[in-house]
Amino acid sequence: MTEEWHLENERLQSFIDTVDEAANTHEEIPDLLDALHDPFQDLLTDDDWLSEPYDGLVPDGYDDKGEMGRDIAQWLLYRRPEKLTLFTLALPPGVETPVHDHLAWGLVGIYSGTQTEEFYRRADDADNHIGHADLEHLRTEEMERGDFYEIVPPNNDIHQVETSSDVPSVSVHLLGADVGCIQRHQFDPDDEFVELFQSHYSNVRCERSLSPPEEHGHMHSHNHG
Ligand SMILES: [Fe+2]
Repeated sequence: MTEEWHLENERLQSFIDTVDEAANTHEEIPDLLDALHDPFQDLLTDDDWLSEPYDGLVPDGYDDKGEMGRDIAQWLLYRRPEKLTLFTLALPPGVETPVHDHLAWGLVGIYSGTQTEEFYRRADDADNHIGHADLEHLRTEEMERGDFYEIVPPNNDIHQVETSSDVPSVSVHLLGADVGCIQRHQFDPDDEFVELFQSHYSNVRCERSLSPPEEHGHMHSHNHG
């Protein structure tokens, strides 16, 4: 099993070990996510593991390989190809991401700054109308350090993130897929428009575009009967 560490320290290694133990113990995604709530929140509120440049915006002069736009940084910290990624997302004050999906289970939480999150789900048959998407707005949440939420496709997978603090906001994303490299979607809810989207990472350009995982990316979906 190949893996990539873009940030390497004992704290991060022990968190990934915890994820593996939980994935070996819990076959169902809801159980796996439940088991990871406390370890993930501990990581979000721990000051000793996330270092520059991964805890902020893209530095001046850095060759940003990401495609999130609007000076948004997305830093890949750890990747097990097509199975698991851990990355950070940093947005300047007042800047928002496109409305987007992930197509894999995950946990997203705030490490620094504050964010406003808008949650959506598709209100149409996602497969039948290329370029057209009817989104239902579900809720708005204000989030600060240590707050987190689950991503579970298809009904809990679409959101938009905006920094509400006067400093950049940084969130940590644990996802059951190489989300920066898969073909996913971004939406314009007002125009009911959807298009394919590959975000890459600020520090890693994807060599190709991957298909979304089957079963939304359970780490061990093919390993047990
Ligand atoms: Fe996201």
